[in-house]
Order: sequence, then C-alpha cells, then structure tokens
Amino acid sequence: MKKDKFIAKTLAGLEGVLFEELKKTGAENISKGNRAVFFEGDKKVLYRANFNLRTALRILKQIHSFKFNNVDDFYKKCFEFNWDEFMNVKNSFAVYSTVFNSKEFRNSMFVSLKMKDAIVDFFRGKTGKRPNVDSEKPEIILNVHISENDCSISLDSSGESLHKRGYRVAQNEAPLSEILAAGMILLSGWKGESDFIDPMCGSGTLPIEAVLIATNTPPGIFRKEFAFEKWSDFEPELFTEISEEAEPVKLKKQIYASDISPRNIGIARSNARNAHVFNYINFSVTDFNDLKIKTNGSTFIINPPYGERLNFKDLEQTYSMIGERLKHQYPGNTAWILSSSKGLFNKIGLKYSEKHQLYNGALLCDFRKYDLFTGKRNG
Ligand SMILES: C[S@@+](CC[C@H](N)C(=O)[O-])C[C@H]1O[C@@H](n2cnc3c(N)ncnc32)[C@H](O)[C@@H]1O
Repeated sequence: MKKDKFIAKTLAGLEGVLFEELKKTGAENISKGNRAVFFEGDKKVLYRANFNLRTALRILKQIHSFKFNNVDDFYKKCFEFNWDEFMNVKNSFAVYSTVFNSKEFRNSMFVSLKMKDAIVDFFRGKTGKRPNVDSEKPEIILNVHISENDCSISLDSSGESLHKRGYRVAQNEAPLSEILAAGMILLSGWKGESDFIDPMCGSGTLPIEAVLIATNTPPGIFRKEFAFEKWSDFEPELFTEISEEAEPVKLKKQIYASDISPRNIGIARSNARNAHVFNYINFSVTDFNDLKIKTNGSTFIINPPYGERLNFKDLEQTYSMIGERLKHQYPGNTAWILSSSKGLFNKIGLKYSEKHQLYNGALLCDFRKYDLFTGKRNG
C-alpha cells in the first residue's frame, strides 16, 4: 500500500504521549514537533490514527509543498498542482491557513482566498464548471501552512476536531477537553491496573476517558464521521476492518468519580451513560473532605477549581483541604493535580515528584505528581 506523510496535531505537552500512541498504529519514521507529531504510513495507519488515537486533535495528510517568491508565484504553483488526484469538481471544499513570518502574506485569510481562486480556476479551465466553497460542511478540507516562503498543503483527514468524541451531552462550566483528560491519564502512566479516583469530577471527563483507556475502547467508536470518508480513495471495508481491530479488555479495578455538586454529578452521569461506561463508574455526590475510599496503590487525578467563580480565600481553603486529605486519608497512593496557580499549589503543602506543563484552553497549567507516603517525606 502507498505510504504518505502525515502530521498529527495535538496540545502542547502531549507530544510525548501521542508519539507513544502512534507507535501502536504501525506508523513509521515518527518524530516529535511542536504541538504535532510527524509520521509516515499507509491508509491503514491513517484510519487507525483517526480511530484509535486519544491525544490527537486531527490528522493531516501532506499532499504538496513548494517555495514561492511572491503572491502571483504562490497562485501559479497552486494552480499548476494536480488537484484531480484529491478532489473533483463536484466536491465542496474549504481552505484553512496559518502564516508565520511571511513578507508576502500578512494574513491567513488572503492565503486561503488565493488558494481557493487557484483551485476554482484549475477546475473551471478543465471542466468549465467550478467546485463550491463551503465553510459549513465541506467535503474536502485543505490546510495551508506558510512559513516565510515555504508552503505546505495538507488534506485534513479528521474533519471536526477529534476531541469531540461525541459522548458529551452536557457540560459543567469548566470541562476538560477529552484530549487533555486522556493525555493526563496517559502521562500519569495509569492503565487500569489499580483503582482510579477523581474526587472533583465535574462533568466526568477524566473517569470516562479512564474507562475507555482501561477497557481498550477506541475513542473513534463514538464518532459519526471522519473527513477521509469523503475522499475518492476511501475504502469502507478496510475502515470497517480497522474499526473492529481493538480487543476489549475487562475492567479489573474500580473507577470512582465524585463531586460536591449534585448538578455536576448529574451531568457526569449523563455523559457516562452516553459513552456506555455508566456501569463502570462509582459516582457519588460527596465533598472531598468527607470522601472515604479504602484503596492502596491507586491513582487520583484531580482538576480542582482555579477559576474566576470562587474567591481566592475559598480556593486556598480547598487546596489545603486537598493536601491534608491526601496526606492523612490516602497514604500509599499517588495523586496528580492540574492547576494554573502556583500560589494554590503551595497551599497543598506536599512535595511533588514530577511535573508537566500543559494548557487547559489558554491557561498554562502544571500537572504535578505527589507520591503519598506516610511520615516526613511529604513535609
Ligand atoms: C474544574 S472543575 C472539574 C472539571 C472536570 N475535570 C470536567 O472535565 O468537567 C472542578 C470541580 O470541583 C468541584 N469541587 C469544588 N470543591 C469541591 C469539594 N470540596 N469536593 C468535591 N468537589 C469539589 C466543583 O464542583 C467542580 O465540578
């Protein structure tokens, strides 16, 4: 099968886990970039990447690259490309662009416009008809990346971002992206061999992703469609085969999800039901201060509030309660905490043993690991 070059886009800080995930797809020549992982592979690898990867936002297939001198030269090189290979005049299409350090193009809209003109002119010249531009539901999605005078053109094989798994029916005010939640769990090294506890679960993203990881359920099962299904080279039988590859694994340990807010637990339950994992999660409305789970060697992943809604004094109290509870109620376990506030981390009062930097939306966060020993080591 023909091999192509691909780019898997991800969130800052998740390049390493995405790299590891890609190794299991049969991808070759995998290398890490900035918020991206590059790889090569055939159509099977492309389908697997879209269907199985938990930490990719989208998968782009590189189809053309060139250097250009000026805007006219850019148009000419786009016009001369053999678009027939990737789309036909009946396909609707959209072009999305990013521009870095270009003297010729000050804004990405202009790049998209020039590229659209070139494609329309290409087909009009050949067939007398023009393909439609559709920004709502395009069949063919093109990505143009310009850096100085280098242009790289890719086909977006995913369409809607892969973080939109399709199981979320409702959300609380600050849900984690499914990709960030899966990335945090993979960074923690948890694979289902011990209990998993999220005592501030909000809409339930972490426990739901944890069940999917532990049961080897591909996130793609929830998706209604991928953009590559509209491509002329789409092989439905091959895709069906790929989507049935994953061997289910029985959940061995407990997944606990609790929150102080009854409303949020209601939302988490609906989402879990929609993801068909409701029966795997022990939900409860509980203040973490009152939570008592008998567990050992387990992983806590906590995404406490750090938002605008609570005043800082309340947040400080919440963080010192978290530290106090972890230390006294849960020695012998491991806790990971995501927060954007160094001041609030200090309130936890425990020493961390590992740290990753991640973005929750636009917020730069630390994701810190705490080994919960008894005695002095935790200060
Ligand atoms: C940032 S949100 C968690 C979002 C969640 N990770 C998601 O994906 O939806 C923080 C959550 O902590 C909960 N919370 C705040 N104080 C709490 C406490 N003392 N005990 C338990 N939950 C608490 C809030 O109700 C809120 O749902």
